[in-house]
Amino acid sequence: VKRVLASAPAKIILFGEHSVVYGKPAIAAAIDLRTYVRAEFNDTGAIKIEAHDIRTPGLIVSFTEDSIYFESDYGKAAEVLGYVRQAIELVKEEADVNGKGITVSITSQIPVGAGLGSSAAVAVATIGAVSRLLGLELSNEEVGKLGHRVELLVQGASSGIDPTVSAIGGFIHYQKGEFEHLPFMELPIVVGYTGSSGSTKELVAMVRRNYEEMPEIFEPILNSMGRLVEKAREVITSDLDRDLKFQTLGKLMNINHGLLDAIGVSTKKLSELVYAARTAGALGSKITGAGGGGCMYALAPGKQSEVATAIAIAGGTPMITKISREGLRIE
Ligand code: MEV
Repeated sequence: VKRVLASAPAKIILFGEHSVVYGKPAIAAAIDLRTYVRAEFNDTGAIKIEAHDIRTPGLIVSFTEDSIYFESDYGKAAEVLGYVRQAIELVKEEADVNGKGITVSITSQIPVGAGLGSSAAVAVATIGAVSRLLGLELSNEEVGKLGHRVELLVQGASSGIDPTVSAIGGFIHYQKGEFEHLPFMELPIVVGYTGSSGSTKELVAMVRRNYEEMPEIFEPILNSMGRLVEKAREVITSDLDRDLKFQTLGKLMNINHGLLDAIGVSTKKLSELVYAARTAGALGSKITGAGGGGCMYALAPGKQSEVATAIAIAGGTPMITKISREGLRIE
């Protein structure tokens, strides 16, 4: 093969972000925003990375690895390159490149730093495209595991939930590297983007510092997060009717948000969007992902457009998304 195009989805964490880093369970789903990566051989022997239309707060940018150093404005988007480079390096360890160069071009619909797993999706799509180009037949699960290694190398700490859900798709329960598909259910959700971005690496490190300073305070909070995830799993897999399921899930979302606020990862803007959504009729709303900016989501059966409007009036960018059954895909 001379050229491979692969794509991988964004994700939302429905319950259990941060506590999942401490070995507690979490529930996540792939959503229908995707990152596309094209990999092809070049004659220079070098690795070349091009990014097109990368969305960062207030900016849509395109760049190459050579130009990035001159354009400080590109800010957050440049972080993408770290994941891509590391992903290519890991795949190269597994295959023989025969001195050939590889050019990787990225296009993405996923805002960077929004807590929607843009880094995991770019790592997964890159591993998918480059491994196929080099003739490796990796399963999506194996690609997810390599994606977790990329995150550990670039970020220092990671639970692996983002690359796992991006690689395998659907709706999953995840704990310590093990995942289980939950029965697929359409969730009437609205995602609200604050327009600013948080650094997952810094937020995870901040929680760790506070945990170490006051373990007796943090441990019960993280345990409660873990328990509410198990409760959510019970509700999702039960035979209760849809409306009852949504009502209980909404309550659990609100509790999870309060606990995330307690460990310090909310912001004024996130809380404003969370409360605006509830006032507009959402059954529950919470941060999704690492926090510190980024996104929240609301569960709003029959009220999606009202909630989207309320999020927009509160200064956020609403996105009505669907769960994507598909993870990594070779196009
Ligand atoms: C980020 O999407 C989720 C965190 O729990 C980090 C991780 O699980 O690696 C904050």
